[in-house]
Amino acid sequence: MSDGTRNSTAVRPRRAIERMAPYRPPTGGRTELLRLDFNENTVGCSPKVTAFFQDGFPMGQLPSYPEYAAARTELARFFEVSEDEMVLTNGTDEAIQVVVNTYLDANQECLLMRPSYAMYRFYAEVAGASIYELDFNPDTLAFPLEQMLETISRNTRLVMLANPNNPTGGGITRSAIERILDRATHAMVLIDEAYYEFSGVTAMPLLKEYPNLLVSRTFSKVYGLAGLRVGCLFTQAANAAFLRKGQSPYSVNAVGAAAARVAVQDQDFITRYVTEVLAARELTEVGLDKLHVPYFASDGNFLLMQFGERAQRVVAGMRDKGILVRDRSHEIPGAVRVTIGTREQMTRFLTALREVLAQ
Ligand SMILES: Cc1ncc(COP(=O)(O)O)c(C=O)c1O
Repeated sequence: MSDGTRNSTAVRPRRAIERMAPYRPPTGGRTELLRLDFNENTVGCSPKVTAFFQDGFPMGQLPSYPEYAAARTELARFFEVSEDEMVLTNGTDEAIQVVVNTYLDANQECLLMRPSYAMYRFYAEVAGASIYELDFNPDTLAFPLEQMLETISRNTRLVMLANPNNPTGGGITRSAIERILDRATHAMVLIDEAYYEFSGVTAMPLLKEYPNLLVSRTFSKVYGLAGLRVGCLFTQAANAAFLRKGQSPYSVNAVGAAAARVAVQDQDFITRYVTEVLAARELTEVGLDKLHVPYFASDGNFLLMQFGERAQRVVAGMRDKGILVRDRSHEIPGAVRVTIGTREQMTRFLTALREVLAQ
């Protein structure tokens, strides 16, 4: 007699998936709080994008699959590349995924920094790659350029670097990137410029000269459109053709593509927000000095702070006060990463922090 269960065993996933530690960032409960935990724009997107949604989004576009011609033309013009040197992506995350899918087979070597943006390791692990991680200097969190140059070998297939790096905040110079590209002639090198607008350092001018260079940008940070998931990947046209081959044809939705087009037209908004954040970063540093909280110099819209034993208590205490910050103590003992918002928001942060530290 049957007991109602089917006589089949559960199919196991690939070993690479079984071996991975889960990565589960929060997907709810953040919108009402002061979000200083994900390096987003803390005031929202350009009013021109808001107005576009309120008055102008052509609803007739929704029943059909997205058309990208206008977005491609306008974004390529804005980023000063030709359309065949650009791949529109569903955020940087998809850019990383497409790069890994295109260049990295199982067991091939991928070189990353530790700690860095989690999704490099995530997609490399999904691919079953051999992952090599270099540590930042444990005291200063400086980038170990010489060590990286020594580590790159003929077997290195892919190097992925965030510039500036998240969560450490430090950046590398264009000449350091050139030395890496010169050394990694058998590898593709992805420079993730998610925080470029805050640092002003870019590898984009190197694209013409280096066929092994990929540069990514995102609309999730300074542009304030993280919810729409739009990014761009830049590389020489021959590489871009391979990347597109391995990409889902409609991965960027019509709303995101349209919003990105509008967003790049309001550079005044971007300049004003960057100026505000840089002033707020300085204000925060002065406040932290007064509270005797050490932090690492940052080229991005975030600061990595050192709370020692108190790290988790600080994260929980700030949450109780309606302010989200990110515990990074699993990567650097005692470290908490705080997004820099406006001066007003950071004044609120410092007041709350003073109270939490006094508890
Ligand atoms: C270095 C870096 N790259 C990429 C991203 C995510 O970008 P996107 O939202 O475009 O996928 C982040 C987000 O925290 C980041 O820190």
